[in-house]
Amino acid sequence: MQADLLIKNIGQLLTMDKQGPVKGSDMNDLQPLENVAVAVNNGKIDWIGPDDEAASIQAKKTINAGGKLVTPGLVEPHTHLVFGGSREHEMALKQQGVPYLDILKEGGGILSTVNATREASYDDLLEKALFHLDRMARHGITTVEAKSGYGLDKETELKQLKVAKEAGEKHPLDLVSTFLGAHAIPPEYKADPEAFLDIMADLFDDIKEQDLAEFVDIFTETGVFSVEQSRRYLLKAKEKGFGVKIHADEIDPLGGTELAVEAGAISGDHLAVASDEGIRQLAASDTIGVILPGTSFYLGKDSYGPARKMIDAGAAISISTDFNPGSSVTENLQLIMSIAALKLKLSPAEIWHAVTVNAAHAIGRGGQAGTIAADRTADIVIWDAPNYMYIPYHYGVNHVNTVIKNGNVLYERGEIR
Ligand code: NIG
Ligand code: FE
Repeated sequence: MQADLLIKNIGQLLTMDKQGPVKGSDMNDLQPLENVAVAVNNGKIDWIGPDDEAASIQAKKTINAGGKLVTPGLVEPHTHLVFGGSREHEMALKQQGVPYLDILKEGGGILSTVNATREASYDDLLEKALFHLDRMARHGITTVEAKSGYGLDKETELKQLKVAKEAGEKHPLDLVSTFLGAHAIPPEYKADPEAFLDIMADLFDDIKEQDLAEFVDIFTETGVFSVEQSRRYLLKAKEKGFGVKIHADEIDPLGGTELAVEAGAISGDHLAVASDEGIRQLAASDTIGVILPGTSFYLGKDSYGPARKMIDAGAAISISTDFNPGSSVTENLQLIMSIAALKLKLSPAEIWHAVTVNAAHAIGRGGQAGTIAADRTADIVIWDAPNYMYIPYHYGVNHVNTVIKNGNVLYERGEIR
């Protein structure tokens, strides 16, 4: 047999090849393969088999995984990738205990990034987005979702979406785009949020025609958009053929989890203060709960979200960085895996499902990303780690040794230790 790429001497391989989304107790069922090898041809997985059969494969390039852990590339299902500026000055306000929604009410927070994004040139936004994508890639992410939402006017929202599209074309990572024009109420529409939502909904046709986003998302929260406003907006988006997502039940429990299920959202995101009824409905639905424990950590919340309850009720869960300039400033999904272990009390097996197959389903890439199996795209990470439990355990650093995207080595740290 011939191969473009052979990865041999894999100590532990996570294939994550269960039919997804993986729900409830199935998330805890992980069967790593041991002492195996993987062959790649034409950017796709061609063969997975015992390591002692690898010697008969003629490969153009061979990587010795040194007996270490190999997994699918991580799938990051929720980021605010494209934005201008940064908000390090808000750290002092946070330390003084000023709540996130109060900073927003005073025109800071999301709105301060809106000003910076309106002022930024297309090229500057693109360069910055590519920089953050590179950092995600170096941390083992091979597919990423990216939201707009720092324009809050037609021109800047389209600018952000176009930047995301070009970034996805230029960068080897796969990018899935979401229109989050309904991210906050801009000062000019403070008195009339409905009129603002109508303006954002006016963009749906343009966005569809130019293929700028697959999903439409809204921030349902006190002082932002109500459940009723969100319902109407999301239904309009569905009528135009978009999949829908929702930032819900992050700070106040408004019933956004229930709305996510009712609207048939592909994912309900945050859900940190979801009600028991919301959790019950989520578990009975096809909607994936994307839990963002890094955001709870960064905003100094006591509760990190009822992910444990959700899985125990039978729901499918994913986790994400929520990478953005205000409420979770990190591209490191491995750190979030540690926070999920320590604060959400998820098991390592549940965490690996959350960042691979379930994350792929949360962004419409089920059956494509997040799995190592014959004929799947060869998105693979080799880790400087002896087993899958090690990644959440050893926290705050980057364990990636080698990232392979579409069968090509994208990043290589060097000798495997
Ligand atoms: O997902 N919750 C709303 N939006 C973002 C935060 C955006 C920001 O603070 O810039 C989030 O946490
Ligand atoms: Fe978010």
